[in-house]
Amino acid sequence: MITTTLGASGPAIGAIGLGCMGMTHGYDPRGRDDDVSVAVIHQALDLGVTLLDTADVYGPYTNEELVGRALADRRERAVLATKVGLVGDPSHPMGRRNDGRPEHVRASVDASLRRLGTDHVDLYQLHRVDPATPLEETWGAMAEAVAAGKARAIGLSEVSVEEIRRAQAIHPVASVQSELSLWTREALAEVVPYCEANGIAFLAYSPLGRGFLTGRFSSPDDIAEGDWRRGNPRFQAEAMAANRAITEAAGRVAERHGATPGQVALAWTRAQSGTVVPIPGTKTPRYLVENAEAADLVLTEADLAELDAVPAPVGERY
Ligand SMILES: NC(=O)c1ccc[n+]([C@@H]2O[C@H](COP(=O)([O-])OP(=O)(O)OC[C@H]3O[C@@H](n4cnc5c(N)ncnc54)[C@H](OP(=O)(O)O)[C@@H]3O)[C@@H](O)[C@H]2O)c1
Repeated sequence: MITTTLGASGPAIGAIGLGCMGMTHGYDPRGRDDDVSVAVIHQALDLGVTLLDTADVYGPYTNEELVGRALADRRERAVLATKVGLVGDPSHPMGRRNDGRPEHVRASVDASLRRLGTDHVDLYQLHRVDPATPLEETWGAMAEAVAAGKARAIGLSEVSVEEIRRAQAIHPVASVQSELSLWTREALAEVVPYCEANGIAFLAYSPLGRGFLTGRFSSPDDIAEGDWRRGNPRFQAEAMAANRAITEAAGRVAERHGATPGQVALAWTRAQSGTVVPIPGTKTPRYLVENAEAADLVLTEADLAELDAVPAPVGERY
């Protein structure tokens, strides 16, 4: 796996990371198999996929516990990223609310470290800005975690350039994590260029369009009962039929390279800026290998032009 760095001054990481969310949260609840997921995390490290992304709200808590179990005897081989700022609602599997209060951050970092079985994370991210708490207060508490040696660096998720600037005034922003893929391009307008200009890593989440861009799902019937995507606007029958045009374009480009549509989707995110690191999620050994191999796929100008000409997606992303 070719390597890059986490932003201009962060640690070396594989050019493609691994999102661990779907191993215990959100997708395909009957497909959960913790032993296989632990093996996938080990395989990722062996392949050079060193950036691992999780969050306390995934599960809640089960995802960090799983990642902690996987890293028990190899913590130093991973660049470990988790998140704070969303709190699960026990009455609803995907229900959640914001909590950016400093006291919540202070308690949460210790709880995350306990579940992850480590004395520090490499990246501690604010999952969402809490509208009820000034960002400066939340970010200040996260900066305390750096000063205490509990986090090597801190990052943001789903923020505007204005919010990045406000945080930077208090403590350096190491990374911004937002959705970026062939069918979700909003971050390219301002946030990605700002990150590139300021040495901030941009972690592209859901780079495979939650799996749709691999061509794996063609109708809602392909999605398991209890899977969050069943309620997602882009995974409704009419939207899926229309959005197939995007996957088909990726498929045409893929054919020219002897690649898969998913690999093209990942290569496209990396082609947008040298600061972009996609974090595709998988709990499936063969998908992990396929995604890791996408690091070697370089798209041509003609490929990128063809992928930029795809229609806008049908359906909101949430
Ligand atoms: N900051 C945020 O608010 C936020 C929001 C969402 C996600 N994230 C992060 O981003 C990570 C990735 O996002 P995501 O999981 O939502 O979406 P994604 O990476 O776009 O897609 C994941 C889905 O694609 C499937 N898949 C992966 N590789 C495949 C391949 N090569 N061929 C066929 N199918 C493949 C996975 O299947 P299997 O799981 O069955 O293998 C899973 O269903 C998450 O794990 C999480 O860490 C962050």
